[in-house]
Amino acid sequence: MSKPYVYITRNVPAESLEPLRDVAEVEMWPHKETPVPREVLLEKAKTSDALFTMLSDKIDAEVLDSAENLKVVANLAVGFDNIDVPHATEKKIAVCNTPEVLTDTTADLTFALLMATARRLPEAVDYVKNGEWQNWAPLLMAGHDVHHKTIGIVGMGRIGQTVAKRATGFDMNILYHNRSRKTEAENELGASYVSFDELIETSDFVVCMAPATNDTEDLFTYEVFEKMKSSAIFINASRGSVVVENDLEKALANKEIAAAGLDVFRHEPIGADHPLLKHSNVVALPHIGSASVETRKEMTALVSRNIRNVLEGNSPEAIVNE
Ligand code: DGY
Repeated sequence: MSKPYVYITRNVPAESLEPLRDVAEVEMWPHKETPVPREVLLEKAKTSDALFTMLSDKIDAEVLDSAENLKVVANLAVGFDNIDVPHATEKKIAVCNTPEVLTDTTADLTFALLMATARRLPEAVDYVKNGEWQNWAPLLMAGHDVHHKTIGIVGMGRIGQTVAKRATGFDMNILYHNRSRKTEAENELGASYVSFDELIETSDFVVCMAPATNDTEDLFTYEVFEKMKSSAIFINASRGSVVVENDLEKALANKEIAAAGLDVFRHEPIGADHPLLKHSNVVALPHIGSASVETRKEMTALVSRNIRNVLEGNSPEAIVNE
């Protein structure tokens, strides 16, 4: 009997694929930086038993319907908004993700982004590198304190709670808003559950960690930014779809908030002409929440195990279908 066929949509480190190669014929798009073209993805999907996908691949009904043998789509991300999960479920295709292994790394990046935005690190680095530093001055590159401030976390899942844990080290007052109460975060981290309105009105740092769902789409509008303190800093490390970007841009231009740190955008990658980038108080990153060498290796290995488990008729470690 021939081995099942697995198509990987990006060039990923070979060593983490070993568990897969034992049980499947594995092919991968050979490029590290460029995504697989849509027509190649559609062609490869036709004969795939498993797809090893990236968050930049749109796995919609067209892909799923073209794939007659497909048993599993395993995403190299904890988020899975790039996949039509209800349609996959209807077709009995398992959809897998990579929770847990990236929690600490993503929380680290989120906190680093918060600090870099508050203390104006990218601006300060450019200032020195561009030879603009002529004198020391009392308010040169003065930013905002982080310690003892109020952080409001929207979306208190695993990563949100791990960001809160980091905030305790900075003696921050921790507020959160979530669909359900998280009593362990309240008891262990001293986090307080508040309404969304109370959170945005009273936080010094509003940090969005909520997943992309119908409920969170366009959550952050001009009206929301207007309610924030004018000294508030908005951080988004979840998905770009939670923010109306034109509204954020207008809020920054009108000084409704002090700054924004963004790891994610509605349409990625963004170009250098993106309107948000003209603001010196915007710190923008290229969606690198979980991008450490160690974590990317663990994520790749988990995707391989998820696929192998499904192909062998076992339960995968992380499945998102309901
Ligand atoms: C994820 O895994 O969904 C993150 O956005 C990647 O950084």
